[in-house]
Amino acid sequence: MKWIIVVGARPNFMKAAPILNAIRSHNARSRNSSEQIHAVLVHTGQHYDTAMSDAFFADLSLPQPDIFLGVGSGSHAVQTAEIMKQFEEVVLREQPDTVIVVGDVNSTVACALVTAKISYHARGERPLVVHVEAGLRSFDRSMPEECNRVVTDHLSDVLFVTEESGLKNLEKEGIPKSRVFFVGNTMIDTLRTFEERAETSTILERLGMQTNNNGGGRHRQSEPYVLLTLHRPANVDGPEIFLEILEGLRDVAASHRVIFPAHPRTQKQIRHLGLERYFEFAALESAEFDHEGPFGKITLLEPQGYLDFLCLMKYARLVVTDSGGIQEETTCLGVPCVTVRENTERPVTIAAGTNVLGGTERGRIRDAIRLQLGRTCQKTAPEMWDGKAALRIVEQLTSPYNSNYPI
Ligand code: UD1
Repeated sequence: MKWIIVVGARPNFMKAAPILNAIRSHNARSRNSSEQIHAVLVHTGQHYDTAMSDAFFADLSLPQPDIFLGVGSGSHAVQTAEIMKQFEEVVLREQPDTVIVVGDVNSTVACALVTAKISYHARGERPLVVHVEAGLRSFDRSMPEECNRVVTDHLSDVLFVTEESGLKNLEKEGIPKSRVFFVGNTMIDTLRTFEERAETSTILERLGMQTNNNGGGRHRQSEPYVLLTLHRPANVDGPEIFLEILEGLRDVAASHRVIFPAHPRTQKQIRHLGLERYFEFAALESAEFDHEGPFGKITLLEPQGYLDFLCLMKYARLVVTDSGGIQEETTCLGVPCVTVRENTERPVTIAAGTNVLGGTERGRIRDAIRLQLGRTCQKTAPEMWDGKAALRIVEQLTSPYNSNYPI
């Protein structure tokens, strides 16, 4: 069996790593060579910086990609088209039985579309299309990820779902139940594997926030701080909403240190929109910024690697974010989260009580932050988020059931 596993952008790496591990375990257990899975890791190169890609391969002990497409940045159409052109050649050359795509980025939809339409022989044989993290819906088609999710799900032969809302959404869209499996969350598999190792991170000391000096370890304490991430085009590409969010953070930045590892897109927009006055830049290596400004309490950093970021999440008093995955990670870590969006495709994080929607208007954001700062949250494990999602995926895909596919 030959399986291609596709990664392209930062959040894909955490979702794919446990699948590769589960394949390794399967191979170690299988008795004869016909049961062995030959995994081919394809990296589209949608993210290519050391901070956005290489650091994750190192932290997660991911093997180097077998095939790197190096597509880089571009408009949605250009990036998606470039991935499709190159990935078609890969599939025709490698002739895999199965192509696994994860998440909702442009690489996900591009590779699903290529696989669903490819034909090896005149009889039209093609690989199985497998989507990991299927069924999530924000019901907001202005989000590029929502378009990617809907299209990928409708092209997939086998759909692995992370939370119950995914089952309902797919049923409503008419996707046959026989293709859909509720297996849990592979990103949480990775969190559970690395939570302990994140204690080796020295990021709190390097930022001068650790208050006890026992050289790291499990009993460290830090000054109370807020962790911020923002990268959604809708939030950072125009000045109005970006300013609203920064104003929404004004009160909390006066009472807490706010740590902001900024995505390259966000760094660019801060310069482009002239928003430097809101930040201090102490730890930013590539800064071409004007360092003056009265706000001074939001500390801008380069994007962090997996272990440093996990450590920052774990010890934060509060996380403010527009990311999808961070809503899920904070749920498992028991850290209060304010999501600066009007909707979420991950309602289980709201039901768990760790996450609230703060919208993108300054008054609402301030209220949500005040509410969440007054709270202590418990670590919550939504159904099936037990660290074994990838094992279930490999088990399902190697079961005789799948010989019926593609249909
Ligand atoms: C992509 C995903 C988004 C995901 C995010 C995680 C899509 C549609 N969006 O958004 O769902 O939450 O990744 O980060 O796929 N850039 C660099 N270096 C890099 C990568 C990007 O400088 O390694 C800059 C480029 O200027 C690029 C911009 O960031 O134009 C945006 O990158 P892109 O891959 O288009 O989308 P993201 O905003 O990262």
